[in-house]
Amino acid sequence: MGVVSTSAYGAWFYAGQQDGSRRSAERVLPLVFDLVRPTSVVDVGCGTGSWLATAQHLGVDEILGVDGPWVSADALHIPPQCFLQQDLSTPLRLDRRFDLAMCMEAAEHFDESRADSLVADLCAMADVVLFSAAIPGQTGTDHRNEQWPPYWRERFGQWGYELVDCLRTRLWDDQAIEPWYAQNAFLYVSGERLAADERLRAAATENGRMPLCAVHPGVLALFSAPYAPAVPEPADRRGAPRRFIGQSEPRCRCDAPAPTARA
Ligand SMILES: C[S@@+](CC[C@H](N)C(=O)[O-])C[C@H]1O[C@@H](n2cnc3c(N)ncnc32)[C@H](O)[C@@H]1O
Repeated sequence: MGVVSTSAYGAWFYAGQQDGSRRSAERVLPLVFDLVRPTSVVDVGCGTGSWLATAQHLGVDEILGVDGPWVSADALHIPPQCFLQQDLSTPLRLDRRFDLAMCMEAAEHFDESRADSLVADLCAMADVVLFSAAIPGQTGTDHRNEQWPPYWRERFGQWGYELVDCLRTRLWDDQAIEPWYAQNAFLYVSGERLAADERLRAAATENGRMPLCAVHPGVLALFSAPYAPAVPEPADRRGAPRRFIGQSEPRCRCDAPAPTARA
């Protein structure tokens, strides 16, 4: 496993992301809770605990957040006794299950060699997993394993968990949400739970409304130059007929004679 540079996640890192994280949690979790109704939630790679603090605010009694020892107790948004310091680059086994496990924009921070065991850890924690992981090219602090959703779907599938893609269509146009959550948030649900839970089964019928691999305009905007109008042509060239490269005349789409000008 690669060594984590503790300086990668200093106070400056959380100062830059926790407000957007909290704002996003406040929009995403009510949708998830409406489906799952959890009384216990674990968050793997919880950072300062913005998502769990929101879960508490929504009435969840039992929460547990797991992140590295570099997260200072002062910075936590959850009670310190609800936080477990753990280097997540190695497998994490908790001796209990929760109603919901979350892993939000954390999976891409581990080496690819950790991907299988991370998914195994999450499936061992809950029948429903809220999972959001960066896509290729998203970029971010110490990203090591950016993958398209089918990569993670295949790994959850090995544990009998099915993807439920009912969040993205609801989140996509919500300006309050950080675009990476709108783009990457999926539910993974165990086969047993899906068979027993009518609400989640109904949510799963929404699969396929969007392509699995889709880039959110807000994520694209972070990394692409804004559109700049073309530099105007010099005055003496303006209005000159354009010519197609390698052709002396524009061709019609078929071999029929070129249409004559209409009034
Ligand atoms: C982008 S932040 C996401 C935080 C939170 N889930 C959220 O959405 O606001 C990624 C988190 O992964 C954690 N992380 C990365 N590598 C880790 C490791 N080896 N052990 C524990 N946590 C790690 C970082 O400390 C950081 O809090």
